[in-house]
Order: sequence, then structure tokens, then C-alpha cells
Amino acid sequence: MFLRKSTALFLIIVTALAVVSCSDDSDDVVQPGDPFASIIETFGLESLGSIPYPPDNGFNAQRIALGQLLFFDPILGGESAPWIKSAAGKDPYRYRANDVACATCHHPTLGFADGRNLGAGVSGAQFNDMDLGPQRVVPGPSLVTGDPVGAEPRNSPSILNAAFNGKDSHVPVWDSFQFMDGRVEKGLDEQATFPITSRDEMAGDAYGPDFTQEAARDSVTERIKNIPEYVARFKQAFPADVTSADDITIEIIGKAIGAYEREIITPGSRYDQFIDGNRDVFTAKEKEGFDLFFGKALCGDCHSGPMLSDFTFRVQGVGDAYEIPDFEGKNGEGGDFGRFHADEIELADQKFGFRTQTVRNAELTGPYFHSGSAGSLRDLMDFYNRGGLGPDDISNETLEALGIERDPSIRPLGLTDAEMDAVIAFMKTTTAPVQAGPSGLDLTKVPERVPSGLLPPGIPTPNKPGPYLPGDEAELD
Ligand code: HEC
Ligand code: HEC
Repeated sequence: MFLRKSTALFLIIVTALAVVSCSDDSDDVVQPGDPFASIIETFGLESLGSIPYPPDNGFNAQRIALGQLLFFDPILGGESAPWIKSAAGKDPYRYRANDVACATCHHPTLGFADGRNLGAGVSGAQFNDMDLGPQRVVPGPSLVTGDPVGAEPRNSPSILNAAFNGKDSHVPVWDSFQFMDGRVEKGLDEQATFPITSRDEMAGDAYGPDFTQEAARDSVTERIKNIPEYVARFKQAFPADVTSADDITIEIIGKAIGAYEREIITPGSRYDQFIDGNRDVFTAKEKEGFDLFFGKALCGDCHSGPMLSDFTFRVQGVGDAYEIPDFEGKNGEGGDFGRFHADEIELADQKFGFRTQTVRNAELTGPYFHSGSAGSLRDLMDFYNRGGLGPDDISNETLEALGIERDPSIRPLGLTDAEMDAVIAFMKTTTAPVQAGPSGLDLTKVPERVPSGLLPPGIPTPNKPGPYLPGDEAELD
């Protein structure tokens, strides 16, 4: 099932990059009697403005460049194994340790998501060009224990524009909600210290049976301290905090990664131009989609403000078509309780609540929803049009039994096919390329090399493509 959207997605990306027109600098002209002005005001619609920076981590070109290297460096992934290490230099494309980087699941060629319904992290050494997107083999064997490492319990969201996330409001704040259940409340710098501590994501079985988050963070910090190029770059980027390797902490590593992520933004879409007053950039169909989105289709009840998200938690009743019994964020019966799990005691009344996600760049970031259950934007529209009342959605009976109500804005909409197409056409107007970084730095480029010397995800394997098979290590003797 992971394969179904891959080809389409690649084509969409290529087409989108080719046709996106941006930065039309013509004067903003709002016509008298402009029918769109009141919608724009009512729903707080804004083009992307300036990035909210944390007070202790303002714009800094060296931090951004350093963060980009860390983001693509599999040295943050936990697992290695002695036989893999002994293979160093023989065929680095084939015999790889530390096979997962942030970019494995947030890759520039996949809209800074991964094109899969559920994320795939540590999964045993494989050929590098099969490590990305729907091809990634899951479950793969842990290199340390051989135990299978399964898929992530949730869909990997795009991190495009995550700098503009809000917190219970559509207003962008630096200490924003991250994750679909909002369990990170201090923005990108804090979030960046979590993936390395999760078994399915980046840790694998590297840290033994008595695994703690601290053990993973200490180990990653230690690895970074032992790479001279990283130490030199940390000293340059954080001169007040880092004067020797020992000053590098996991918080500072998080700040560097956050500094990079904050700049991965896509201003200047046709949507932004439209909001800024240039109403001619939309076709008639896109204008119809805009009207429907904020009218009959009810999308604007939750998707509002600069990110087209209100950053509140809503019960939609999107189903999970999978079972991950040992996932602590599950109810043990295959259902993901969402917000409830961000803090089981205080949020007990928020079962099945998920954070409203952004609509920006949705064209590039499928599959959709926390479970990846909508493979295409049409599937997504079908969900909303049936009011979440399909056989695979969470039923009213299930919700009622838990004392939960579906959000009143999720109800059958009676949209025609043509109307759904119009809403999709409207959503696609938000697609835009990532802006250039400082001094023209290409923030979407996979670095040719990273300081660890490991291979960043998505570099093609020159020969012998195919998955790693147990027993292949015998070739190394
Ligand atoms: C194995 C795949 C995988 C890897 C590797 C991974 N992520 Fe993620 N990422 C996810 C998934 C899945 C979620 C959603 C989890 C949730 O909401 O509970 C997520 C969520 C996020 C978010 C939140 C976005 C938002 O708007 O809420 C950010 C930011 C992020 N990841 C950054 C990173 C960084 C930085 C790294 C590396 C340190 C990383 N990710 C590594 C899969 C991955
Ligand atoms: C009641 C509030 C609400 C309404 C109404 C609503 N949404 Fe959403 N939307 C959400 C929430 C919450 C999520 C995340 C749900 C999840 O992951 O389970 C979401 C997710 C999305 C996503 C992102 C999916 C992804 O994975 O990136 C898109 C696109 C989207 N909605 C479009 C729409 C459209 C189009 C409409 C109108 C037809 C609409 N929404 C109506 C709350 C709402």
C-alpha cells in the first residue's frame, strides 16, 4: 500500500516545480466592492510574513548552514553494528550504519515529507537509493538486535513553513505547537531533540534495553563532539556558548537544526499574491474554490490565518487502518487518541483530537492526515464531503461511547465533483518554491557530503541496486 502514490507524487512535484509562478511584484490593487475582502478579513487570511524567532536564536547564517548539515546527516540515527563498521570503505552505498537522518522522512524531493502513509525510520542497512520514500523497506531488522523495526505510528508531515505554526491560535509564534497532538509546545528548537529518542524513528535498538531519552541524547551529542568539523562549525555559529567541544549540548544541536528548519519557507505563492490584493492571479475555478473553502465546504472553520490553520485540536474522526499494538500513543486497540496522549491526565477529554494542519503546499505533501489514510487530495475531499461517516472513519457510536463529539463542522457537505475539484484547484494555489537562504544558500539541496562522512539520504547508488538481505554480510569476510 505504500507504493500507490509514489509515482504520481514524483510527477506532481516535477510539474509543480516547473509551473509555479511566483513573485509577481505588480501593485496590489483591491477593487472597490471587492467580494473577497470580507472573507480575507473574517478568516484572518494573510500572506506569509516575517518569521518569529526565539529570543535566544535569531537569524544567523552560520547556524542555518550548520543546521542543514545536521538535518541531512545520518550520524543522528542511532544504529550501527560492528560488522557494518568493519565494512567501511568497501561499498559505502551498500554497507551503511546510521541509516536514518531527519531528511529521510522530511526530504526536499518529497515536499519535506516522505510520500508514505506512515513514516519509516531505522530499518537496517539498505541500498542508499532505496532508503527514501515509499521504497523504504519496513519492517527492517535492527542492526543491533535483529528485531524488526516497524513503521512509525503516524504520517510524516511536511516541515515546510513550520516556522509559522501557532499555539491554540492562527498567530505564528516561535514557541509553537509541533506534532499533531501538540506535545511539543516550544517550537522547532525543542522538537529537534525528540526524533533521536524514538525507537521507530531514529534510535532503533542502539541504546540497549534500559533505553532512556537521556541516553540517546548523550550518545548523539558525544558523536557530534568527536567530529572536528562539527566542533569548528559550532564554535563559529555559537561563539558565546561554544568555545570547545565540551560546550556542545543537545539543546545547542537543537538550536542549529531549528535555525535551518525555520528558513524552509515558501512565500510568494499565487495564493499569497491573491491575499495581498492581486485578484487577477486566480482563474475562475480557483476563485470558486476559494469561495467554497470559506463557505459551503466549511474548511475555513478550522483552516484560517496565515498558515490556513487555527492550530487548535479538533475531532474529525479520521480512521487508522493499521494496528501498532506496542505504540504507547495508541489505545491498544488500533486507534490513535491524538491530543489525549500529549498528557494523559489533563487532556482526558480530548480523545481523537488532532491539530488542524496547514493546507499550504498540500499538493506536494500527501498522503494526508495523521494516519496517511487519504492518499490524494481527492480522497481527502471525499472524507470531508461524507462528513467523516464512511466505513473506515471513526463512527459516531465509537465517539459517543467515549463521551466525545465529532466537530460540528465535520458533516456531510453535498459538494459536487466539480465543486470538490474547485477546492482542490484552490488549495494548489498555495504551492510555491522554498525561498533561498542567506547568501543564496539552497536550502533544498542535499549536501554532497556531511561532516560525519556518512551518506545523506537520497544519493543514488551507483551499482547493484537492491535491498540488503540477511546473510549479505558474509561477502565481507
Ligand atoms: C522516521 C521518520 C522521521 C524522521 C527520521 C524524523 N521525523 Fe520528523 N516527523 C515524523 C513524524 C511521523 C512526525 C509526526 C509525529 C506526530 O505528530 O506525532 C514528525 C513531525 C515533525 C515535526 C513537526 C511538524 C509540525 O508541524 O508539527 C518537525 C518539525 C519534525 N518532525 C522535524 C524533524 C527533525 C528535525 C528530525 C531529525 C532530528 C526528524 N523530524 C526526523 C517522522 C520523522
Ligand atoms: C473541524 C475542523 C476542520 C474542518 C472543518 C476542515 N479541516 Fe482540514 N484538517 C483539520 C484537522 C484537525 C486536520 C488534521 C487531521 C488529522 O491528521 O487527523 C486537518 C487536515 C487537513 C489537511 C492536511 C492534511 C495533511 O496531512 O497535510 C488538509 C489539506 C485539509 N485538512 C483540508 C481541508 C479542506 C479542503 C476542508 C474543507 C473541505 C477541511 N480541511 C475542513 C481540521 C479541519
